[in-house]
Amino acid sequence: MPRYVVTGGAGFIGSALVRGLLAEGAGRVVVIDNLLTGKEENLAEVREQIEFHPADIRCYEKIAPLVQGAEVVFHLAAIPSVPRSISEPVLTHEVNVNGTFHLLRACRDGGVRRVVYAASSSAYGDTEVLPKVETMAPRPLSPYAVQKLLGEYYASVFYHCLGLETVSLRYFNVYGPRQDPNSPYSGVISVFMKALLERRSPTIFGDGEQSRDFTYVEDVVALTLKAARAPAACGKVYNAGNGGRYTLNQVWELLQRIEGVRLPARYGPPRPGDVRHSQADTRAAVRDLGHAPRFSLEEGLRRTLEWYRQTLAGPA
Ligand SMILES: NC(=O)c1ccc[n+]([C@@H]2O[C@H](COP(=O)([O-])OP(=O)(O)OC[C@H]3O[C@@H](n4cnc5c(N)ncnc54)[C@H](O)[C@@H]3O)[C@@H](O)[C@H]2O)c1
Repeated sequence: MPRYVVTGGAGFIGSALVRGLLAEGAGRVVVIDNLLTGKEENLAEVREQIEFHPADIRCYEKIAPLVQGAEVVFHLAAIPSVPRSISEPVLTHEVNVNGTFHLLRACRDGGVRRVVYAASSSAYGDTEVLPKVETMAPRPLSPYAVQKLLGEYYASVFYHCLGLETVSLRYFNVYGPRQDPNSPYSGVISVFMKALLERRSPTIFGDGEQSRDFTYVEDVVALTLKAARAPAACGKVYNAGNGGRYTLNQVWELLQRIEGVRLPARYGPPRPGDVRHSQADTRAAVRDLGHAPRFSLEEGLRRTLEWYRQTLAGPA
């Protein structure tokens, strides 16, 4: 039976991908995650159907036997935060760059058929032209952006020089159920959701006119699964976004309208390393991978809000 490995599979996107693989009836699903930011409870109801290893991707000896002979390794393990990469550049470099290198090396040595790498739209930095297209020169603005970009470069070189099939997907601001709202490094939509349900005003860093291509997690999972199969994708980088663009002020307005409340946002200083505008050109992903995002922002927000409402309320 084919084996699929998800690094970072106890995290927000990784745990959704594990569910996506199980729903496809893929075969054996193996999760590698040291639970730094992930949680085993993210896998609660599928825990019996998977194999979980609390291993660290920085440790080649531990991960090599786990990836050996796998059909596809989905590499999502990382410390995914711009502010944390500024406050902890050494740790984030070790995980995001060295960890990725060791993982790719283990996959190559272990005869893995393909690696799909979770890259980041932060690689683009501030570009003069929107939407951002894969042929643009990267201009990373933070250690995190550099680290994720190095992972892409390594993935591409492992294909071209070492014969390991790799595909990199630049995820654009993913949101949805199980995104942790409780850390100082949390994604903005999870922070908005918690504030909304607690009837508090959120703090927006900057003037709120920065914009993002918010992408619902199920659309990202569907594309990631397609990237594992697409024939003409090896060694390449694709945008994994929705193709739209909303400002943080617009998102907060929309959430208040959905919930029927008025809670004007507070504003704080802009954060270093933040990109001003972000929007994906999705044409290459549509053409080569069959990308077909299904969720509008409003639909995705409604689904996400229902999940947070049930989860934050806790058991009745
Ligand atoms: N969420 C987004 O909007 C977004 C955007 C662009 C790229 N990405 C990328 O997608 C991937 C998943 O991000 P996420 O939002 O689900 O974050 P997450 O923090 O929920 O998931 C990351 C997972 O990696 C695990 N991990 C961290 N260090 C590890 C290590 N040394 N060994 C093993 N496991 C380790 C964590 O415990 C966690 O479960 C990351 O690679 C991230 O860079 C996310």
